Amino acid sequence: MCGIVGYVGNQQVVPVVIEGLRRLEYRGYDSAGIAVVNRDHEMQVRRASGKLRNLEEVIRENPISGEYGLGHTRWATHGRPTEENAHPHRSGDGRVVVVHNGIIENYLELKRDLQARGHVFKSETDTEVVAHLIQKHQQLDPQADLETAFRRSLNEVRGIYALVAMSADEPEKIVAARLGPPVVVGLGDGEYFVASDIPAILPHTRNIFFLGDGEIACLAKDGVRVTDLEGNEIKPQVQRITWDPIQAEKGGYKHFMLKEIYEQPRAVRDTTQSRISLDTGQVFLDEMKITEAEFRNFTDIKIAACGTAWHAALVAKYLIEELARLPVEVDYASEFRYRNPILTPTTLMMVISQSGETADTLAALREGKEKGCKTLAICNVQGAMMTREADGTIYTHAGPEIGVASTKAFTSQIVAAYLLAMYLAQVRGALNEEKLKWHAQHLSELPVKIEKLLNSDTDYEELSRAFVLSTDFLYLGRGINFPIALEGALKLKEISYIHAEGYAAGEMKHGPNALIDSRLPVVVINTLDPNDEKSRLRYEKTISNIQEVKARDGIVVAIVTEGDKDTREVASFTIQVPPSSELLSPVLSAIPLQLMAYHIAVRRGCDVDQPRNLAKSVTVE
Ligand code: M6R
Repeated sequence: MCGIVGYVGNQQVVPVVIEGLRRLEYRGYDSAGIAVVNRDHEMQVRRASGKLRNLEEVIRENPISGEYGLGHTRWATHGRPTEENAHPHRSGDGRVVVVHNGIIENYLELKRDLQARGHVFKSETDTEVVAHLIQKHQQLDPQADLETAFRRSLNEVRGIYALVAMSADEPEKIVAARLGPPVVVGLGDGEYFVASDIPAILPHTRNIFFLGDGEIACLAKDGVRVTDLEGNEIKPQVQRITWDPIQAEKGGYKHFMLKEIYEQPRAVRDTTQSRISLDTGQVFLDEMKITEAEFRNFTDIKIAACGTAWHAALVAKYLIEELARLPVEVDYASEFRYRNPILTPTTLMMVISQSGETADTLAALREGKEKGCKTLAICNVQGAMMTREADGTIYTHAGPEIGVASTKAFTSQIVAAYLLAMYLAQVRGALNEEKLKWHAQHLSELPVKIEKLLNSDTDYEELSRAFVLSTDFLYLGRGINFPIALEGALKLKEISYIHAEGYAAGEMKHGPNALIDSRLPVVVINTLDPNDEKSRLRYEKTISNIQEVKARDGIVVAIVTEGDKDTREVASFTIQVPPSSELLSPVLSAIPLQLMAYHIAVRRGCDVDQPRNLAKSVTVE
């Protein structure tokens, strides 16, 4: 979603803010802007629609400078992505500016009140009301400083926000507030930063804290003060970021997405490492406020998630039901609240989220809490909102994921779910030590298999050449591979803009086969674990589905296990993955689909890391 960067200190603010915004580009945006106050206490605002380079061009033509300021990249919600709607937004007198991520739900009501008082609005956005509200409170009480007027304005606002404001009349001061979308404050030496995500400020400082919901930070040259909406002082929990800023850079790869695909052996290893014992098969979960007895007594699990994380949740259902024999229900987080879910005190409410900030998923988590459930998050981002609100978190340790299309976060979510399934099986006595050891062994071999897969000589260039002009794709999978079909289709559509559908292979004959003709590529996931009876059955049935596609002239691209013969005979293209147990095969099958989507999108000239209309973390419902 939108990106925010603010700075108070001795450096020239424009390069700090622009560079910070560039590091947030991955979040997705369609316009950008910056406001800087100069030595003469003039508020200078520059904005442009489109990418940051357009804003830089505007600044080149009309330079600005100063030592405090803020910038924003906007992902349009209210109003088109034009220059007028780009942030920062000004108060009527132009002395105050505001940038905002989120939605002000009562903005129309507030706008009408302000218009009745004579305020004139220049944009179609909800954000602009906040700048006018601050001005209103300063007019009502001329003694009120920016922080006070900001606090009073927030008390009138309904919605979700990361809001940052500054005034030309209060030098070297920035105020920021959070209710929903993340706000991170960076503590430097005589300089302070505020941003919507850590990479923006990482080159300057590693000492950071996240604002909590309902908290306000006031950054000045002599320090940062945090208060609540009533003005009571709060001690922030400062943390030191240990990951390397290099991890948030491309490291020689053409795109973040490609880099992140290649980081999967490391990501999966880090997720597993130090959590399983190969000697005993025991799983150790991170410290959490859910006791072993509670894990033993859960009667069911609900998982809510969105997008790729929802696909990981579908895989998690297979894993938990198979290993721990505990019923699992998976919901789209955006639907969860609209169906009166049956939650009991012995239901474990789980969420899966890369960012830990997705508004729909957070709402589902809160719903679970309200209904008295214990809550557990599988999350990648340290300190994210969900990790703070859930009773327990299993971190995926995938490292920062910058590409909008989720890759390494997905496979490490599956691995985290596998660990949870093993843990549940262990505490509930559903698997004996021998079986647990067997699973631990297979998990520990997974990173090497991923490495092998990534080093294979599959010709993705050839595949991308063959399909660059395709307009539709069908992805099919059965059993635990069905969610991978959904994920493969999502990956392709989000970065290449080719229409793609994922289907349970057995469902094809109930409608989608009407689509099959000689122009339709059908990607079928058909790996085989010969030692698993269910896998063999699934494999054979899927071959029949492939025959059905072939009989209608469809083009079959099959994901198969090394050494496969039967699928190979009927498919037009095959991609091999190393042999693995049935339950771990989704991790391996997902990777060629990521690579295929990537190469097709690159050949089509698409912006792979920042696909149109998409945002990295969706903090609006
Ligand atoms: O941060 P989250 O995992 O909660 O995000 C959920 C979805 O928005 C996300 O997975 C989205 O579908 C990705 N663009 C998929 O690649």
